[in-house]
Amino acid sequence: MSSLPLAQNLIEIERGLTTSSTAIFVPFTTQELFQTGKEALYYGLNALSNNLIMVDRKLLKNPNGLILGTPGSGKSFSAKREIANAFLVTDDDIIISDPEAEYSPLVERLGGQVIRVSPTSTQYINPMDINMNYSEEDNPIALKADFILSLCELVVGGKEGLQPIEKTVIDRCVHQVYQSYFNDPRPDNMPVLEDLYDELMKQDEKEAHHVATALEIYVKGSLNLFNHRTNVDIDNRLVCYDIKELGKQLKKIGMLIVQDQVWGRVTANREEGKSTRYYMDEMHLLLKEEQTAAYSVEIWKRFRKWGGIPTGITQNVKDLLASREVENIFENSDFIYMLNQAVGDRAILAKQLNISQHQLSYVTHSGEGEGLLFYGNVILPFVDRFPTDLELYRIMTTKPGEVAEAREAG
Ligand SMILES: Nc1ncnc2c1ncn2[C@@H]1O[C@H](COP(=O)(O)OP(=O)(O)OP(=O)(O)O)[C@@H](O)[C@H]1O
Ligand SMILES: [Mg+2]
Repeated sequence: MSSLPLAQNLIEIERGLTTSSTAIFVPFTTQELFQTGKEALYYGLNALSNNLIMVDRKLLKNPNGLILGTPGSGKSFSAKREIANAFLVTDDDIIISDPEAEYSPLVERLGGQVIRVSPTSTQYINPMDINMNYSEEDNPIALKADFILSLCELVVGGKEGLQPIEKTVIDRCVHQVYQSYFNDPRPDNMPVLEDLYDELMKQDEKEAHHVATALEIYVKGSLNLFNHRTNVDIDNRLVCYDIKELGKQLKKIGMLIVQDQVWGRVTANREEGKSTRYYMDEMHLLLKEEQTAAYSVEIWKRFRKWGGIPTGITQNVKDLLASREVENIFENSDFIYMLNQAVGDRAILAKQLNISQHQLSYVTHSGEGEGLLFYGNVILPFVDRFPTDLELYRIMTTKPGEVAEAREAG
C-alpha cells in the first residue's frame, strides 16, 4: 500500500539517506550536457542516457582543451570530427599542427590549405613575418625579438644557450631589420633570415659573427627552407602545417616557427573579433623541447584573452606532468576529452582530477571513441560510434587498410 501512489506511508520506519544512496531510487536523473546555442558542437552520446552531448567550448571559463588516450583510441579522429563540425557550424579559423601528415585529406576536402614544411617542399613560411597587431603593446617588434631569440637559441644550441652579449646583439639587429621594414611596410619588403644574418655580420662584436655563422646553414646552406618569404595562403580559414618530413634537426625549429605563425594569426584575428582554433597533434613532441614547451605554456596562458582556442592531443599524461611549468597546461584545461588510458596514466589521472574508480572504468579498456568528457566541473561518460560508411569517415580514418582503400578510390 505504501508503494502505491496514494501518498500514504504506512511504514513507521524512517531513516536518512546520503545523496548517493538516494540517487539509486531515482534512476532517471542523469547529468546531461546539452547546450542549445548556435555554436554548440557534437561530442558523442551520453553513455548513461544515450542523449546527445552538445557543448560550446567558448562558454567555458577557459576554452583550452586536451584530448588524451592510448594509440588508436581515437584522439586524432575526435579532433578531426570537432574540426569538421566547427568548420561547418562556426565562423572560426582553424589551424592544425600535423606531425603525422594525416589531416590533409580532410583539410583538402574542406577547401583548406595544407602547407608541407620540408626541405624538399616549395611551399615556404617566413619566420620573420610580422603584423602590426602582433603584440598588445604598441611595440610588436619587442615580442618578435623575443621569438627570434628563442629561434637563435635553438640554432646556436649548446648547454648554456645564448650568452648575454649574443642576446644583446641579436636584439639590436632585429630592431634594425624591422625598422627599415616599418618605414615602408610592403609585403615584398618583409625581412627574411638573410637580412638578420647580414645585419649581424655588420656588427663589430665577435659574438655577432658567432651567431651569424651558426645561422649560416639556415640562410645559405642546405637547411635554407626558412629563408624565403611566405608563398602560401596562410590566410585560408583552415590551415594545416604538415611537418612530418622535417628531420630531427629541423623539427624543433619548424615547430617553433609554426607556433609563431599561429600567434601571428591569432593576433590578427582578434583585431577582427574572430576566434582561432589551434590543434596540436602529438603534443608530446612540443613538450620535449624546452623552447617549444615554453611557447606551448604561453599559448595556454595567453590565448584565451586573444580569442584563441587551443587543443592539445597526446598519448601520455606523463608528458604533461614533466615539469611544474608544463603542468600548467594540464591544470588550465577546462575541456578534457579522455579516451582509453594506460594503467600508469589512469592512476595519475585519478589523483590529479579526483575521479572515482567507477568513472575510471569508462577509460579502462574502452573501445575507439569511448571515454570520459570533462567540461568545466561536469564529468560525463560518452560513446561516439561514427558510421564507417560515410565519406567523412573515409577522409578521417588512419587505419592503414582503410587509408589505402580510400586512396585507390581516389
Ligand atoms: N568515434 C569513432 N567511431 C568510429 N571509429 C573510430 C572512432 N574513433 C576512432 N575510430 C577508429 O580508430 C582509428 C584510430 O583512431 P585515431 O587515428 O584517432 O587514433 P589516435 O588515438 O590518434 O592514435 P595515435 O596516438 O596513434 O595517433 C580511426 O582511424 C578510426 O578507424
Ligand atoms: Mg593520432
